Amino acid sequence: QKMRIDIITVLPELLTSPFEASILKRAIDKGLVEVHFHNLRDYTDTKYRNVDDYQFGGGAGMVLMIEPIDKCITNLKSQRNYDEIIYMTPDGETLNQKMSNQLSMIDNMIILCGHYKGVDQRVRDAFITKEISIGDYVLSGGELGAAVLCDSIIRLIPGVLNDETSALTDTFQDGLLAPPVYTRPAEYKGMNVPDILLSGNFGKIEEWRESKAYERTEKLRPDLLQ
Ligand code: ADE
Repeated sequence: QKMRIDIITVLPELLTSPFEASILKRAIDKGLVEVHFHNLRDYTDTKYRNVDDYQFGGGAGMVLMIEPIDKCITNLKSQRNYDEIIYMTPDGETLNQKMSNQLSMIDNMIILCGHYKGVDQRVRDAFITKEISIGDYVLSGGELGAAVLCDSIIRLIPGVLNDETSALTDTFQDGLLAPPVYTRPAEYKGMNVPDILLSGNFGKIEEWRESKAYERTEKLRPDLLQ
């Protein structure tokens, strides 16, 4: 079953290019995932196609209105079942590899990108099943967060990466940072590749990689070993 991601945004132009290169493009070309963009403005019927308005009670910043979002989500839900309707927001649950692994196994998801001051709270109460932040900093909108989320999920879909084991050896996949890697030349301006990697002894090489992964994690991210 092919994964389908529907992204709702007021700025689709911010989002399309990440899907037009490298691994994400290949995943789409191979038919392993479908990504559809929905411009919220296409779900308005007012003369000026407004998608946002001032907040009740006063305060700076515009808020995305419920009606266009309702129309868009209701239209999508009438066509298929969605496992998750995700809202990108800095106050969501912080994205990590475990969440990406879980999301890579579902069939259909909607991702709603917030903008300005966010969306009317009733959207979150009525439609959203999961709220995700990509980190403790504020972006201008959810689009770049959605791109990050999609990249981390799509690369985990079986068949997307050429060498199936390469996602398994990623940093975080086994709870550790990845070990250092080297390529040719074996010596560059007096800097050498560790001898063990040139030894051809794959048992010893695996042991070395494990110990380096552990060492690196202990030094840079001791919190991961807790
Ligand atoms: N929208 C604004 N800031 C965000 C963040 N840190 N993560 C996800 N969506 C956001």
